[in-house]
Amino acid sequence: MKGIVLAGGHGTRLHPVTLGVSKQLLPVYDKPMIYYSLSVLMLAGIREILVVSTPEDLPGFRRLLGDGAELGLSLDYVEQAEPKGLADAFILGADHVGDDSVALVLGDNIFHGQGFSALLQRTAQDLHGCVLFGYPVQDPRRYGVGEVNVRGELISIEEKPNRPRSNRAITGLYFYDNDVLEIAAGLRPSSRGELEITDVNRAYLARGTAKLVDLGRGFAWLDTGTHESLTEAGQYVRVLEHRQGVRIACLEEIALRMGFIDRDACHRLGERMANSGYGQYVMEIAAARPALRAVT
Ligand code: DAU
Repeated sequence: MKGIVLAGGHGTRLHPVTLGVSKQLLPVYDKPMIYYSLSVLMLAGIREILVVSTPEDLPGFRRLLGDGAELGLSLDYVEQAEPKGLADAFILGADHVGDDSVALVLGDNIFHGQGFSALLQRTAQDLHGCVLFGYPVQDPRRYGVGEVNVRGELISIEEKPNRPRSNRAITGLYFYDNDVLEIAAGLRPSSRGELEITDVNRAYLARGTAKLVDLGRGFAWLDTGTHESLTEAGQYVRVLEHRQGVRIACLEEIALRMGFIDRDACHRLGERMANSGYGQYVMEIAAARPALRAVT
C-alpha cells in the first residue's frame, strides 16, 4: 500500500501566521504538524509516501523530511499549483500509486488513541473498496458527514450539509483500493470548483464497497484549522506527553518500533537534536528496552 499526505492549501483561516510558512509546518506543541499525519501512515506500515504541497511550500517539507531514508521511508514530493480539491491528490499521485492501494491523510489532521496502530494495520491488510473513519462531533456541518443504518452500514455521505443526518464526521484519513485512480480521473469539479473527496466516497458507496469504521469516544481526532483549535491541539499533546512521559507522533520512535530502522540509526537521529527535549527522548527510546515504554 502507498501513502499520500496532502499538505497544500493556503491556510487562510490562520492568516497572518500562514502568510510566510505552510500551515502543515507550524508547530503542534513540540513537532511540526505534518509529523502527526505522517505518523498515521507509518503506523499503518506504509513506507512509500508522497507529500503534496504548494510550489512555495514544498522546499520546506523537503528540508524537514528529505528523502525519508533516515526513517526507513521512501518519500516523494509533488506540487499542487492550486488547491483544486482533496481528490486531486489521486490525479497528481497516480504514478506514485501505480497499481497499488493507497491511504490518503490530510496533513492538518491529528489522530490519537489506544489500539489505533492495530486498527490501521488491519484496515490496510484487509481492504476491499474504501474505508472511512467516523468520529462524533458537536458541529457536523463543518465536515463530510456519514449516515449509517441500524446494521451500522454506511448509507449516505454529504459534504458540509446544512442539515446533517448524523453527528458522525468523516475524518481526513481514507483507505482506497486501486479503483480510486479511475474514480478520481472521472470527477467533475463541484459547485465550489473542487474535486471533492466526498464524490469519490459516494462513488464507492454506489458500488456498495464503502465502509465506515467508527473511532469511538476514547479516540482523539483534533482540528488545527483555526487559531483556537491549533492552540487546543498543542495543549492536548502537551498535557498527555507531560503526564505520561511519552511523545505522540515521534517519527523516529515509530520508525524504530515498526522495524523501519535499528537502534543505532534511531540514536543518531536523536543525537542531532540533542539540545531539545525531543532529541533527548529519541536517544532514550533508542537505548530503552521495548518493554519499558508503551507503544503509541
Ligand atoms: O478534516 C476532515 C474534513 O476534511 C472532511 O470531513 C471533509 O469531508 C473534507 O472535505 C475536508 O474538509 P475541509 O473543509 O477540512 O477541507 P479543506 O479544504 O480545508 O482541506 C483540508 C486540508 O487539505 C487543508 O489543510 C488544505 C489541504 N488541501 C486542501 C485542498 C482543497 C490541499 O492540500 N489541497 C487542496 O486542493
